[in-house]
Amino acid sequence: MKVNQLELEQFRNMESLSFSPGASVNIIYGDNAQGKTNLLEAIWLLSGAKSFRGAKDGDLIRFGAGRARVEAAFDCQGRRQQAKIVWDGKKTAWLNDILQESVSSFAGIFTAVVFSPSHLGLVRDGPAVRRKFLDTSLCQILPRYIGMIGRYQRIVLQRNTLLKDISRAPSLLDTLDVWDEKLAALGGAIIRMRMEYTRRLQIQANEIYHGISMEKEDFSIAYRPAGLAIRPGQDQQEIAGLLREALARGRGEDLKSGFTLTGPHRDDLEITIDGRSVRAFGSQGQQRSCVLALKLAESRCIGELLGENPVILLDDVMSELDQNRRDYLLNHLSGNQIFITCCDKGYFSRLEQGSIFHMENGKLSQE
Ligand SMILES: Nc1ncnc2c1ncn2[C@@H]1O[C@H](COP(=O)(O)OP(=O)(O)O)[C@@H](O)[C@H]1O
Ligand SMILES: [Mg+2]
Repeated sequence: MKVNQLELEQFRNMESLSFSPGASVNIIYGDNAQGKTNLLEAIWLLSGAKSFRGAKDGDLIRFGAGRARVEAAFDCQGRRQQAKIVWDGKKTAWLNDILQESVSSFAGIFTAVVFSPSHLGLVRDGPAVRRKFLDTSLCQILPRYIGMIGRYQRIVLQRNTLLKDISRAPSLLDTLDVWDEKLAALGGAIIRMRMEYTRRLQIQANEIYHGISMEKEDFSIAYRPAGLAIRPGQDQQEIAGLLREALARGRGEDLKSGFTLTGPHRDDLEITIDGRSVRAFGSQGQQRSCVLALKLAESRCIGELLGENPVILLDDVMSELDQNRRDYLLNHLSGNQIFITCCDKGYFSRLEQGSIFHMENGKLSQE
């Protein structure tokens, strides 16, 4: 994956910006609130995912303007492609000048991995953030996963509505079996895919963690399905069977609470160092290294599975790392096109190859 040209129009604080990044490391430096993160956000949106800042579509349009555009020419799978998104009250996407049904069709075509300070929530926050981490990668790797996860979420919502309705109309209890069956079948497939992806991620993340920490600590991640005892190697059907049993066992609790308490929407990814939870016991430095290792492992897994290395977006993470970790990063990411934002370009005095850009008030200039 390589972005050759990026054009922004009325996007955030950038009135009009044309950017020709280099093929390897691109440093974007500048003072606070100049538009560095906005630029990475624009690149990220081309992956078809939602903003990593949790922005709503309307937030992306420059204050006072009615329409924003992000357009990129990039090389992928050996050919030049073009992606364009326009926001003007609604969102419209084109790939190679062909109108798309939605931006999610960019998934798996324009691939990117992003790490910003807000991603530290990956180790610090609750399980929802970690499920989203797995799901975001899986959506890029297997575009059909996007539909699966959407359908699954609707099933859970409908089952929850039914659980609440049953307390008022007990005769509806008969219809619960149908929803249990749907939830178990699709949930089993989702758990299986997440577990397989976690296995691949673990191999890469462990190696990277050793590299960045330069310590002999043992880093490990494990998928923890809520209320299920899954043995290694169990297939989708077997997991669906376990889920069906767990739903039956938990039916009383579910009816009491009005919520479905078992299934992949309750699962977690456990991250440990030397067998101890990083969330509970990790130092700040360990937590940061863990997230970085997970993000870089994600980029390797996507590269391995799609045969194309994703673009890596590192927002403001350099100031938090010591020189050794910075050097490790720069030396081990050479197979990817990388965009790094920071306030001080001094961190990169030892950068041999790469391009340096200055961002000021939404305008970018190359040095
Ligand atoms: N829709 C918008 N229209 C105009 N300016 C915006 C919009 N959204 C954010 N901004 C401005 O962008 C600036 C922040 O840009 P950001 O990329 O986060 O800065 P940084 O260079 O620190 O990463 C702020 O000044 C903010 O007011
Ligand atoms: Mg920023």
